[in-house]
Amino acid sequence: MNFDFSEEQIMIRQAARDFAKKLESDVIERDCKAEYPTQHVKELSDLGFMGISVDPKYGGGGMDTISYLLAMEEISKIDSSVGVIMSVHNSLVMSGVEKYASDYLKDKYLPVMVTGEKIGAFLLSEPEAGSDATSQKTSALDMGDHYLLNGTKNWITSAGTASVYIVFGQTYPEKRHRGINVFIVDRETPGISLGQHEDKMGMRSSDTHSVMFTDVKVPKENRIGEDGFGFKFAMKALEEGRVGIAAQAVGIAQGAFERAVRYAKERKAFGKPIAEHQAIAFKLADMAVKIENARNLYLKAGWLKQNKKPYAQYSAMAKLYAADIAMEVTTEAVQILGGYGYVREYHVERLMREAKLTQIYEGTSEIQKIIISRQILAD
Ligand code: CAA
Repeated sequence: MNFDFSEEQIMIRQAARDFAKKLESDVIERDCKAEYPTQHVKELSDLGFMGISVDPKYGGGGMDTISYLLAMEEISKIDSSVGVIMSVHNSLVMSGVEKYASDYLKDKYLPVMVTGEKIGAFLLSEPEAGSDATSQKTSALDMGDHYLLNGTKNWITSAGTASVYIVFGQTYPEKRHRGINVFIVDRETPGISLGQHEDKMGMRSSDTHSVMFTDVKVPKENRIGEDGFGFKFAMKALEEGRVGIAAQAVGIAQGAFERAVRYAKERKAFGKPIAEHQAIAFKLADMAVKIENARNLYLKAGWLKQNKKPYAQYSAMAKLYAADIAMEVTTEAVQILGGYGYVREYHVERLMREAKLTQIYEGTSEIQKIIISRQILAD
């Protein structure tokens, strides 16, 4: 077993670390104002991170899964809002398009997406189809040469800034999940309107909206895959996306941990740095073990994916564990910093709010347990 990273992986991690340092200067202000990081996303694109794993023939970076995950951890250590924009665009949108869309769609969309000129969003969740993603109410009627979309999507990351939507709709309700289709839809298409911007607890500078579809005409050639392939597409995309969210959660935990260690070494109480009190030192030890375990789990899931082995169970395990320990580690970091931990200036309260979202999106912790337990019981 080899735990070494390749030179290329180390280089990507360093590039992501250098980029992430620049996010720090305005991350608190953007969080307060819930302001989209336009300039940072442009720079992220210029560095190649918005098409990091896409085949170079479409202009992508052609990097492996581990490189992508290491970059996700580094960026999310400083700013998870930028992390989730990168995650949805790469994992939930472009990866599926590259794997399953027609050559026509790939040639049309991938080259403009890898440069960040067009950002992608993944429109699966609905008011009554969150965890239960099979219950899609958005209809996608087959009208011969086009589909007609009607319905509402909820909690859509990048909805207001993306121009390429991956939209799921039900074509044959009697077939349940096997009747769901998935389409690439240009946001400019008549009949699409944005709901209000969601005022979130964390990852506030990523842009989250509901989106309404009223008689939206989508050309037949914009369907991805065979008729009824939509739900499988969603499951595959989420399987991949969840590994990235695991890396993101580790980044959040690591960011809080590093701040807690720095503070514990500097802050004195009862005549010595608080790090020298066992009550704090033991907390730091527990935090370090949890982070290392979570990192190893997402790397294993990423390695399985990279080597084309089944990884749905490991993806769910990595996301479940990393999100839970991110919540625990950030909460402990706030505790170690005490009053300082509870104010914005010291970042850890923001990281704690960000950690909470990793337990919710791309499938709640409970959904991950369903996936893992079903796999165990099926074996
Ligand atoms: N790969 C391929 N196919 C898969 C699959 C996978 N990983 N997992 C399931 N499937 C297939 C099954 O084989 C089955 O197909 P057949 O019936 O044709 O054999 C079909 O999908 C249905 O599977 P289940 O019977 O397991 O479906 P279920 O309803 O019992 O549960 C679930 C599935 C895992 C709970 C699923 O609904 C799920 O993942 N829910 C959570 C949805 C989610 O994560 N939403 C997040 C929204 S996106 C988001 O957050 C993005 C953002 O903006 C940040």
